[in-house]
Amino acid sequence: MTAARVPVRDDLVGVVAYGAPQLDVAVRLNVNETPWPPPPKYTELLAARIAELDLNRYPDRRATALRTALGERAGLPPTRVWTANGSNEVLVQLFQAYGGPGRRVLLFTPGYSAHPLLARVATTDSVTAPLDADLRLSPATAAAAVAKREPEIVCVANPNNPTGLPVGLDTVRALHDAGDGLVVIDEAYVEFGATSAVALLDELPRLVVTRTFSKAWRMAGLRLGYLYGPEWVVDDLRKVRLPYHLDALTQTAGLVACELADEVTAHIPALVAERERLAGLLAAVPGVEVFDSAANFLLFRTGVADLFDRLLARGVLVRDFSRVARLEGCLRVTVGTPEEDDVFLAALRESLA
Ligand SMILES: Cc1ncc(COP(=O)(O)O)c(C=O)c1O
Repeated sequence: MTAARVPVRDDLVGVVAYGAPQLDVAVRLNVNETPWPPPPKYTELLAARIAELDLNRYPDRRATALRTALGERAGLPPTRVWTANGSNEVLVQLFQAYGGPGRRVLLFTPGYSAHPLLARVATTDSVTAPLDADLRLSPATAAAAVAKREPEIVCVANPNNPTGLPVGLDTVRALHDAGDGLVVIDEAYVEFGATSAVALLDELPRLVVTRTFSKAWRMAGLRLGYLYGPEWVVDDLRKVRLPYHLDALTQTAGLVACELADEVTAHIPALVAERERLAGLLAAVPGVEVFDSAANFLLFRTGVADLFDRLLARGVLVRDFSRVARLEGCLRVTVGTPEEDDVFLAALRESLA
């Protein structure tokens, strides 16, 4: 009798597939989406452009028009821009190109939980170092960790997820100058208030900055991410990408978004104002401690162990970090519409009463 199944790769035994719960509840504030969809002007123009596509043809393998448009936004040529299916794919491609067996990526904890998973997919070992006591990353801590571990890649989110705390440019410099590896700054949330490391690209030759359309561009349904970096990185990423990895619909959607960037991102000031309103009201709830945030979410701590379930029972889904080391008792809430946030606050007050 032949075997009924094939054993999964050794390093995947026991791995839990990544994914926050997708539950059908009234208020979903758990994956840091923008609560408002892109404006009708965008969806109308996109529909017209899609109607013009030759879908019988493969897409432009180099996504030249989209890379040019994204480059112009940062004053960079298309040869220094790379695009893929979400910034997660950009990251996994970086790990495939510069990681792999026998190589390591350095991550700081607590951080974005997908980073070690993406490294594993790329058969790259993760090594971790702790953030500072206040959960920030100082230049000294950053440099010491790089000098000690000598990683081929170091990857840090700015602002960090789940804390929301920004990373200073002096820390980015320290990460770079303490070693010889690739420095990846994951700027998925940078548009909500952190200072971008793009300003350092010409100064630091091994720096890359990854970005996404999922958050501030309010298009998580699209799966489009990109990076700004040196030309040699873009050349190397071509060696690991799948043939025609970025489809014509996604390229078109990104291009139209660049054309209408002002309209598509017009909500950002309102969202930041709503974050500050929510942070103030949250901090005023007795027993709640709120972290500063430069992102579109807030991390907060209470002493109540089952708060996640109490909120869910009231139709509000947030992200549970209460069992993550150094985040004991913490939940993370995405900034929603004022109405959604008021429902969340009412559910929280009730749950803590
Ligand atoms: C820090 C960070 N990086 C990257 C991503 C992934 O974004 P994308 O939707 O572009 O794959 C997320 C999503 O939550 C994130 O929090």
